[in-house]
Amino acid sequence: MVPGIDGVGRMRVGGLVYFVSGDDTWGSMADQAVVDVRRSIPLPEGIDATKVAAAMNPAMSSWVALRRRVPLKPGQSVLVLGATGNAGAMAIQVAKHLGAARVVGAGRNPERLAELPALGADEVVQLTDDANVAAERLGEAAAEVDIVLDYLWAKPAANAIMAILTARSDRSRAVDWIQIGAMAGPTIELPSVALRSANLRIQGNGQGAVSPEAYRAELPSLVDQIVAGTIGINVRSVPLSEVESTWTSPETPGIRTVFVP
Ligand SMILES: NC(=O)c1ccc[n+]([C@@H]2O[C@H](COP(=O)([O-])OP(=O)(O)OC[C@H]3O[C@@H](n4cnc5c(N)ncnc54)[C@H](OP(=O)(O)O)[C@@H]3O)[C@@H](O)[C@H]2O)c1
Repeated sequence: MVPGIDGVGRMRVGGLVYFVSGDDTWGSMADQAVVDVRRSIPLPEGIDATKVAAAMNPAMSSWVALRRRVPLKPGQSVLVLGATGNAGAMAIQVAKHLGAARVVGAGRNPERLAELPALGADEVVQLTDDANVAAERLGEAAAEVDIVLDYLWAKPAANAIMAILTARSDRSRAVDWIQIGAMAGPTIELPSVALRSANLRIQGNGQGAVSPEAYRAELPSLVDQIVAGTIGINVRSVPLSEVESTWTSPETPGIRTVFVP
């Protein structure tokens, strides 16, 4: 198997593109890849291709969620659950850029959490293995949020749902939970009362939840913000020939690796 689901490439006919692989044609970590032009957009010459390659996938997860799944209304508040990862840290910047009045970032890595205010987080919440402590902190910081971007799922998400709904001043006011990643596990055990006694609306975001056409329509404006630096990311560029050793070495949190042929 050749891994890789997206990338930046130069077309044989010329021109730089960002592309997302089709559902059954992976293999972007390669010198050459098959690209469905319907899942690609042209990029301006002279841009930092490595930065675009690094940023698009993690940034898209929140950008498309807040533009296509639950369009963010200016002034709303957003909680990013799992904000210490690359996608989560970008979600904070994306939410602010799209008009969120208040953004709360929650995660467990204290060093990464400390970096989030500089990216736009109004408050950060340290998650711990003690569910009661985490629930108390989330209840204090995020009880009134309108939208949650969830990169964790499993126990931390179930705990956060109950904490927020319990502490919420008006449980009939909608909270939109957007499931994006599953770093903590693929399944969730949620008390039925969460859906019955509150206006909790759960949906997910990813390819399939949003059509390829809608994704493609969102990409150019996201590229603009990445190139402008409104939505930033730390990148490490590695020659593709070093993929084997890089694959098995530990990653530095907050730095995204891009393989360059
Ligand atoms: N649907 C989409 O469109 C889309 C797009 C991009 C990414 N994703 C998904 O989003 C998730 C995050 O991606 P990423 O690129 O941000 O990954 P990443 O940079 O590797 O970051 C993952 C983060 O998750 C944290 N984490 C892991 N387990 C945790 C737990 N039990 N409790 C709290 N934090 C935990 C890690 O924190 P520690 O430092 O504490 O370990 C790390 O900060 C992945 O599941 C990915 O597949 C989805």
